[in-house]
Amino acid sequence: MSDIDMLIAAARAAAGHAHAPYSRFAVGAALRLTDGSIITGANFENASYGLSLCAETVALASANAQGRLADVVEIGVVGGVIGEGGATGEAPIRPCGRCRQILNEAAQMGGRDVLVHCAGMTGDVIETHKLSDLLPHAFGPADLGIGRAPR
Ligand code: THU
Repeated sequence: MSDIDMLIAAARAAAGHAHAPYSRFAVGAALRLTDGSIITGANFENASYGLSLCAETVALASANAQGRLADVVEIGVVGGVIGEGGATGEAPIRPCGRCRQILNEAAQMGGRDVLVHCAGMTGDVIETHKLSDLLPHAFGPADLGIGRAPR
């Protein structure tokens, strides 16, 4: 199994922990860090719908809580509709706009263009993008007069 396949497998496993009783759409995210370690997240919905957190944001907040925000190299993102036996679907999903911006914070901290691998819950299709292609002309620390965000 390639490193990217392993990252997608970790994201799929994380999607199994999605708390998504409202949308019935499970999302899993897995971050690979500079030392090869992986941090995962799943979407975390709330009865007050607007408070729901995306899987990518949960994973990035966890990386930050572990002092590893600047070490994010790549992310795998998967999602699918929850059915009887779990989430299904082969179509790749891509991070929402808010998650792209939050991912950009990690990219800026680490000084690297994070790779974003997108897949469905099953199947072999993995679409890879550079964050800079998904979020061109991003707002970032430089706009605040900060050359590189302080650690
Ligand atoms: N969701 C994510 O977790 N990540 C995304 O990038 C897009 C959407 C979640 C939010 C909500 O829990 C469910 O998917 C349906 O929108």
